[in-house]
Amino acid sequence: MCGIVGYIGRQKAINVLIDGLERLEYRGYDSAGITVIENNQLFTRKKAGKVSDLKKILDGIELKSNIGIAHTRWATHGEPNDKNAHPHSDNSGNIVIVHNGIIENYKAIKKTLTDKGYFFRSDTDSEILAVFIGYIYNKVKDLEEAVRLALSEVDGTFGLVVLSSYEPDKMIAARRGSPMVCGVGENEYILASDTSAIIKHTRNVIYLSDNEMITLSYNGIQTKTIDNQITDNQIHHIDFEISQIEKGGFEHFMLKEIFEQAQTVQDAFRGRLQVNEGTVRLGGLRSVAEVLKNAKRIIFTACGTSWHSALVGEYIIENLCNISVEVEYASEFRYRNPVIYPDDVVIAISQSGETADTLAALREAKKKSATVLGVVNVVGSSIARDTDAGVYIHAGPEIGVASTKAFTSQLTVLILIAIYIGRMRGISLPDGLKLTQALSELPKKIEEVLKTADDIKAIAKEYCNARNFLYLGRGYNFPVALEGALKLKEISYIHAEGYPAAEMKHGPIALIDENMPVVFIATKDEIYDKVISNIEEVKARKGKVIAIATEGDEQIKQYANHVIYIPETIPMLTPILSVIPLQLLAYYIAVELGCNVDQPRNLAKSVTVE
Ligand code: G6P
Repeated sequence: MCGIVGYIGRQKAINVLIDGLERLEYRGYDSAGITVIENNQLFTRKKAGKVSDLKKILDGIELKSNIGIAHTRWATHGEPNDKNAHPHSDNSGNIVIVHNGIIENYKAIKKTLTDKGYFFRSDTDSEILAVFIGYIYNKVKDLEEAVRLALSEVDGTFGLVVLSSYEPDKMIAARRGSPMVCGVGENEYILASDTSAIIKHTRNVIYLSDNEMITLSYNGIQTKTIDNQITDNQIHHIDFEISQIEKGGFEHFMLKEIFEQAQTVQDAFRGRLQVNEGTVRLGGLRSVAEVLKNAKRIIFTACGTSWHSALVGEYIIENLCNISVEVEYASEFRYRNPVIYPDDVVIAISQSGETADTLAALREAKKKSATVLGVVNVVGSSIARDTDAGVYIHAGPEIGVASTKAFTSQLTVLILIAIYIGRMRGISLPDGLKLTQALSELPKKIEEVLKTADDIKAIAKEYCNARNFLYLGRGYNFPVALEGALKLKEISYIHAEGYPAAEMKHGPIALIDENMPVVFIATKDEIYDKVISNIEEVKARKGKVIAIATEGDEQIKQYANHVIYIPETIPMLTPILSVIPLQLLAYYIAVELGCNVDQPRNLAKSVTVE
């Protein structure tokens, strides 16, 4: 979703800003723009389309400025065109802003301003904020104070950066609900909505808190709350490498991230798994160990792929911990007045840690006094900071919009949490040993699965022109069926549905004919025979079966048109292996169809608006 970069320092701002925008492209966007202060005047260019389109209109223009702001927009109010792209200016043209988030009371502010004779050029809520800041500036003649007063009147969310030719040596930023990070370099500062745009310049960052603003000048920075209280911010160190946000020889980020999974799963359990003691150590949960030991109910809340992880987590925790588990879409949970008891544990799962609905859901749970935990990838993100405790998944930056490695790392962490709670609640040592041993063997097995890539590519070629796909699985592999279908529709735009295999009889079976590929996750477990019966039902209707099966299963060849084998593991760990062929299948089909795999149309990596 929208991305922000701001720069003040000694380098040419335009170079830092464009590089920053390119680093944020993965988030999904539909237009881009910049403003720099050139000879005390604002210089703005903006364009619908890609950052490369913006670069074209800047080609040949010499810009020496050391201060500027830039934005990639993902349309919410108003279609994606040049006029609606950011930066937006006030009526004088002397104040510009870039804004992420939504101004909920924009209609009321617009009316007040229109009545006073102010005008608007775009269809965005963001422009209203720019004009509003300009209106207040005319009264107070102080940029920081104008921004602060305007934001005190605003309902909604914002990550905001303001620049003005009135005070050309200054940049002001603020946040509520949308992330904003300030990189602190040597004699320079880089503001961004995402650390990917910062790490080329510095690893030292300040995370702004909600309702906090920062004023940056060439000489330093100062932070305060929107209520005008000076704040003191710690500098944090980001520990990922620039190579982690580059393709490293792979054609797409998504493929690189699929192939990283042996490593990222290992990173998720490194230092945590105590194989010899059949248990795990999770420092992030130490403060809530007693609460977890005595919990009567766990509620997972998440969106998208993270919601699928939660479904697997439900099965695993109920099985190992004997605690009742519920899984809720965050967008539903936040608005439906859920029954939450003070001894409930609510776990928010989020790769980005910034998904607006998930953040709001956890805040709702907090209000109702539940213990709120996070399973998050991005260190320092809003969800990580707003939870009582939690476990990072340590998957490293995930750039491909379609989540892959974050899913398998989330599953790994969920099983760690289940073992952690389960061992306090009665899992025996032998069972603990079996689980931890099986987990430790996963990275090698993932390497084995990845060797099937060429076979999957061939299957992708054969089926890429299908209009619909069905994905079926049972038990732990039912959520994998959902995730496989989601991957395919996200990046190839082929309609795909995931179902519990036995539910097929209650609807999807009507769709099956010789043109319908059906992907079965049919690994060896206690319900294997039932899944085979489901496969036979598909075959009887001439459906084409692609089966993900356990190595050594020769029987399945009689039923399936194609079989992809994965190594055997204990059933609750199979999703970590069985999802990988489905990620590859979606990837190769999308490539075959010429789709933009890393930035699929209309999708955003981090959905920071509801
Ligand atoms: C978007 C992304 C998905 C992701 C979902 C939840 O839809 O495109 O890949 O699963 O948001 O995001 P989160 O960061 O909270 O896991």
